[in-house]
Parts: sequence; structure tokens; C-alpha cells
Amino acid sequence: MRTTALGSKGPEVGVVGLGCMGMSYGYDMSTQRDEDASVAVIHQALDLGMTFLDTADVYGPYTNEQLIGRALRGHRDRAVLATKVGMVHHGSDASPRPMPNGSPDHIRRSVDESLRRLDTDHVDLYYLHRVDPEVPIEESVGALAEAVSAGKARHIGLSEVTVEQIERAQSVHPITAVQSELSLWTRDWTREVLPHCQEQGIAFVPYSPLGKGFLTGRFTSFDELPQDDFRRGLARFQQDALRQNLALADKVKQIAGRIGATPAQVALAWVLAQGEHVIPIPGTKTPKYLHDNAGAADVELTSADLAELDALPVPTGGRYF
Ligand SMILES: NC(=O)c1ccc[n+]([C@@H]2O[C@H](COP(=O)([O-])OP(=O)(O)OC[C@H]3O[C@@H](n4cnc5c(N)ncnc54)[C@H](OP(=O)(O)O)[C@@H]3O)[C@@H](O)[C@H]2O)c1
Repeated sequence: MRTTALGSKGPEVGVVGLGCMGMSYGYDMSTQRDEDASVAVIHQALDLGMTFLDTADVYGPYTNEQLIGRALRGHRDRAVLATKVGMVHHGSDASPRPMPNGSPDHIRRSVDESLRRLDTDHVDLYYLHRVDPEVPIEESVGALAEAVSAGKARHIGLSEVTVEQIERAQSVHPITAVQSELSLWTRDWTREVLPHCQEQGIAFVPYSPLGKGFLTGRFTSFDELPQDDFRRGLARFQQDALRQNLALADKVKQIAGRIGATPAQVALAWVLAQGEHVIPIPGTKTPKYLHDNAGAADVELTSADLAELDALPVPTGGRYF
């Protein structure tokens, strides 16, 4: 796979990465997880050049980092490993919704625990998962900067932040990457944050680049969503909204048919076309989808295709609740 730099400060990575969350968390929670299959998918991703792996301590919670640690035993130097800290579940299971905790003490403790679960002495990129409204971002980033000084992290990233928050964070430590939701049905960040990142040499890492699977055309009704799947609680997936949003997925499918690609590849190629250091991390635990997503790196959209995709209507329903 072709590579790009993780912004002006980071290492080279495959232009399409791998989001690992769904292997342990969020989607289809009622199905028994097949960890061996997920480990095999991670190894296939590395073989395909999808070297940029994404996890977080809150995924599981904790089990996703353990899974990555297991998969990378003997393969650590093949991956550019990113994790996140600063979101916590109160209680023993994955509900209710996680809340931000950006206190320096929590971050210091969590960094060491993540490294233990990931079975590594450092991660390549440590993100602050969310800005905690109760803690100045300078303090949270300061704790991550200590991890860099101690050799526990190579780079610092932020997730779902404004330009002002990026600037405040950069006053404490250089920021290498910003991760936020970006896809054909979530384009808000292209207005201010993405241009700011490009100006500053900060990589932009789109999460949920397939619209949580919707843009691939996989879901045509609410009832097709697995039981115990967090998409069942999202506004865009409620039956009436979903029915209206099918027009978007149909358009993606139509363009895919015309250019001989899959809908997932078109959705990812549009994201890749947003800039040089824009590195999507589609999530999958399925070998077929992994290959499909890797193939997106070679799909070229014409300016007419891009204009058609840019003109897609705004979806019905907010992106979260
Ligand atoms: N920073 C944050 O706050 C944040 C929030 C959410 C996610 N993330 C990160 O972003 C990553 C990706 O986001 P996401 O998983 O939410 O959404 P996504 O990548 O937009 O979509 C994942 C869904 O699409 C399906 N899929 C993947 N490739 C496909 C293909 N080629 N054809 C058909 N279906 C396909 C997956 O199915 P299977 O799972 O069945 O293979 C899964 O249901 C996560 O893994 C996580 O690392 C970060």
C-alpha cells in the first residue's frame, strides 16, 4: 500500500489504517467475540501495509488493548500503534456511556496500565480521547507530554477538538495528529479543523469513515442492526431517519458501480481525497472487508465524481444521540 507521513512530525504509515474498536466493543455486543479471527485480521492488515492501528483503553473497556497486545507479540515493530486515554466507564461493564476524565493523575496511571495491556514499552501515538470540560486541556496534554519525556509515547494526538483547543494544546507540546469523525455523512470538520491541521502539519485521522458501516449499503432497515449494537441508539440509524438516509448510500453505490469499485472504497477514496495527511481508520473484523478497504488506496475519483459526492445531502439525524 502507498504510504504517507503521519503529519510533518510523525512516521510513515499506510494511507488506510485499521480501527480495532469493533473487534471488542460497540458493535454487535451480543455475539461471542472470535479473538483468534481478530488477531488474524490484524496480521493480514500488517501484511497489506495497513500499519496504522487504532485502539483505546475504553474499548471493552480494556479488552481491545489486550487483544492488540496479543496480536502484536512478535510484530510490534511492524505497526504504528495508537491508543487513547481520557474516557472512562463508571461501573464494571461497558454501560452506561463513557465520560471524559482528563485529570493528570488519571492519565499518568492509565498510560502505564495501557502499556501493560498492549505488552509494549511505548506507543507511537497517545491521543487524549476527549477534552474533559472540568480540566484545562493544557493539564491533560501536560500529563501526556510527561509520557513522551519518559519514552512511553512517541507522539501526542487529540480527538474531537476545536481549533482553539488544538492551539492551547500546542502551547504545551507539539500535536502530531487529530482524530475526529469524518465521512461522506459527517463533513463538519472539513470547514475549520481540517484546514488548520493541514496548515500546522498535523495529520487528520478520520474515524468512522464508512459512516459506521452505513455508507457501504449494508443496512437497509433498523431491524438489520445486530441486537445490543450501539448504532441502535444513534439518531441516524432510527428507522425513519435510516430510510431517508438510504438515498446517500444508494448514491455511493451508484458511483461505485460506475467506476468498478465497491461502495466502501468510494467512501474511503472520498475521505482520502480530502488531503495528503488524511489517514482514515476504517474498522473491521472481517477479512473480506479488510481487503476491500485496503483496495481503496488505489481508487481514484475524478473531479466530477468528487463533485457528485460533495453534493450529497446532509443526513437526517445527528451523528450521536
Ligand atoms: N476517536 C473516537 O472517539 C472514535 C469513535 C469511534 C471510532 N473510533 C475509531 O475509528 C475506527 C473506525 O470507526 P467505526 O468502526 O466506528 O466505523 P466505520 O469504520 O465507519 O465502520 C465500521 C463498520 O463497517 C463495517 N465495514 C467495514 N468495512 C466494510 C466493508 N468494506 N464493507 C462493508 N462493511 C464494512 C464493519 O463491519 P465488521 O465489523 O462486521 O467487519 C463495521 O460494522 C474504530 O475502530 C475506532 O478505532 C474512534
